[in-house]
Amino acid sequence: KKGNYEHYMQKEIHEQPESLRTTMRGRLICGDSSKAKSVLLGGLKDHLRTIRRSRRIVFIGCGTSYNAALAARPFLEELSGVPVTMELASDLLDRQGPIYREDTAVFVSQSGETADTLLALQYATENGALCVGITNTVGSAIARNTHCGVHINAGCEIGVASTKAYTSQIAVMAMMALAIGDDTTSSQARREAVIDGLFDLPNKVREALKLDNEMKDLAKLLMDEQSLLMFGRGYNYATALEGALKVKEVALMHSEGILAGEMKHGPLALVDETLPIIVIATHDTCFSKQQSVIQQLHARKGRLIVMCSKGAAQLVGPSGSCRVIEVPQVEDCLQPVINIVPLQLLAYHLTVLRGYNVDQPRNLAKSVTTQ
Ligand code: UD1
Ligand code: F6R
Repeated sequence: KKGNYEHYMQKEIHEQPESLRTTMRGRLICGDSSKAKSVLLGGLKDHLRTIRRSRRIVFIGCGTSYNAALAARPFLEELSGVPVTMELASDLLDRQGPIYREDTAVFVSQSGETADTLLALQYATENGALCVGITNTVGSAIARNTHCGVHINAGCEIGVASTKAYTSQIAVMAMMALAIGDDTTSSQARREAVIDGLFDLPNKVREALKLDNEMKDLAKLLMDEQSLLMFGRGYNYATALEGALKVKEVALMHSEGILAGEMKHGPLALVDETLPIIVIATHDTCFSKQQSVIQQLHARKGRLIVMCSKGAAQLVGPSGSCRVIEVPQVEDCLQPVINIVPLQLLAYHLTVLRGYNVDQPRNLAKSVTTQ
């Protein structure tokens, strides 16, 4: 079943061009001279009006699923015009945070069975919100108990560390934003550009997978480290959190994803010549801010590894001043799908080199069905 691969996680990382294609199959409408390009999400189409009229959209999930929602949030805010907030399911339950009838609550869960997410669904249902599911598992508790939703159709994921489900979740939430924004003519050009980007995304992911050997070399360099930081912002704040989550859960190495805008408020104190720091600085509207973060880290002799857009290495520092990972550039809101790929590969190679169990990390279960 693993084919030519040694581990499921490795197989699932390399499968992402295909899993993304399946996720989008039948859901992207090409358009022609008489019809604009659009998306069709069968499970949402009868609920779009209610979602557009809701007072707030609140994403609820745990772990990687939460990170996927965080990656999609800026684009959903842009296209829906509705405030979008984020809740970790356990924290919402701990606080019994406010959920209203006028809310759309979106439950993101690969397995559809995570205890905290399910309890949060029960809580939001009792509070009268419209409950939307985004899950990879047809017939799961979340698929059954939400009012409507979208199956991500990424195919079965066996490795405990979520990889292909993450990228498919982001693709689905981008399509959800496109569907919600479909009634607004002022965003039509933007929507069409993103739809074109989605069509081409599997090819671009295939290109990013060619970084495999480079990531293996980087893993050799980092395998004995105690700790690894990842700085991101904007669309790629989620990439920093998710990259760090992958490294800690499978490679059993301390890793922390940090919002770059928070750097001066504490994390900067950690910077020295030894601690490796991955800075995500691909091209988008935050790029110049990331350039100045890189300069400040350089000034403190930080040990930087910078992820930048292909051909932009000279814009992130004088040549030879740091290691760079060049990734293919796509539409800004889809860039998190590309940027996570080298970090998944890095986490995978670190795990193998450090001699840990890739598919069944210590202490973890694929589906967390207890609180
Ligand atoms: C559906 C079919 C698909 C078929 C396609 C053709 C299923 C599972 N899917 O896909 O096989 O090829 O029509 O038009 O039969 N739902 C929830 N909560 C969730 C996820 C989904 O309530 O968390 C609901 C949706 O609102 C929808 C149904 O489940 O009513 C199926 O969702 P989805 O598979 O995403 O719909 P389609 O893409 O239309
Ligand atoms: C990490 C990972 C977990 C899950 C989390 C939620 O790789 O897989 O963080 O994302 O346990 O699981 P689901 O998405 O099934 O609700």
